Amino acid sequence: MGEGVTDLEEGDHVIITWFQPCLRCSSCAEGRTWVCDNASSEGCLLPDGSTPCARMTERPSLPRRGLHGGVRRRPRHALVPISREVPFDVAALIGCSVVTGFGAVVNDAGVQAGRSALVIGAGGVGLSLIMSLVAAGAGKIIAADINPEALALAEEFGATHTVLSNGDLPDTVREITGHGVDYAFEAIGLPETIGIMPDCVRRGGKAVIVGLPPEDAPVSIDALALAEQGKTLIGSNYGSTVPARDFRCWRSCTSAAYCRSIG
Ligand SMILES: NC(=O)c1ccc[n+]([C@@H]2O[C@H](COP(=O)([O-])OP(=O)(O)OC[C@H]3O[C@@H](n4cnc5c(N)ncnc54)[C@H](O)[C@@H]3O)[C@@H](O)[C@H]2O)c1
Repeated sequence: MGEGVTDLEEGDHVIITWFQPCLRCSSCAEGRTWVCDNASSEGCLLPDGSTPCARMTERPSLPRRGLHGGVRRRPRHALVPISREVPFDVAALIGCSVVTGFGAVVNDAGVQAGRSALVIGAGGVGLSLIMSLVAAGAGKIIAADINPEALALAEEFGATHTVLSNGDLPDTVREITGHGVDYAFEAIGLPETIGIMPDCVRRGGKAVIVGLPPEDAPVSIDALALAEQGKTLIGSNYGSTVPARDFRCWRSCTSAAYCRSIG
């Protein structure tokens, strides 16, 4: 609780957003905080400029940027108060993967009921995409991953088809759907899997980049096929959501009693 914070009390439950809009630029003024011109997604830095968890990132499989702790000091507008009834393990997921997946499906792709979708990568974000596709009424939901355990979870979350990822993903997707999916989502952050998305969607289909590739890794795209076949490739940041509005569903939504009843 810092100086000037008057609307929170000690003991209140909040969800922390990792994405901090400036609330001053023209995008923020339009309510489109997810494309803020001055946004910071930096985690909390130690006084010497290093990241609190940098020492833990010696594993070669982890990005070199270091892990950022996000919870030591946050500005008031990076905290969204929620009901004390929401368990912390649920709240933590809402602040990142759930809102990212839900927003990508609902706000960015605008998935229509009955349409087919492919989710590449069934981790935290991928499972949230699948859960949200189910909520949006999607028909065939194909999950692709290299990890059989992730695919088992994907099925549990509502995937109708699972594919143990291999180089033939576009062909496999066409075998399942006949002509490609209506929507594809990449939730890993690999240039190769982002690059094959346009080939997985049908003519007029939409591919959404959700995974964050390394900064210096260009992606190769078949631009001619995109143009000739009227396909769309878009990026999705934080699901184009407004945390102060979208995280509070539990408190203000008319379905809150229903959500509580299904846990
Ligand atoms: N755009 C946004 O706003 C936003 C928000 C949060 C996270 N992200 C990004 O989303 C991505 C996924 O995050 P996460 O927390 O779900 O990660 P995660 O590690 O939980 O999941 C990644 C999944 O991808 C699978 N995978 C790895 N390589 C694969 C391959 N070659 N083919 C198929 N599957 C493969 C893994 O087995 C795992 O199940 C990350 O890049 C993360 O930075 C983006």
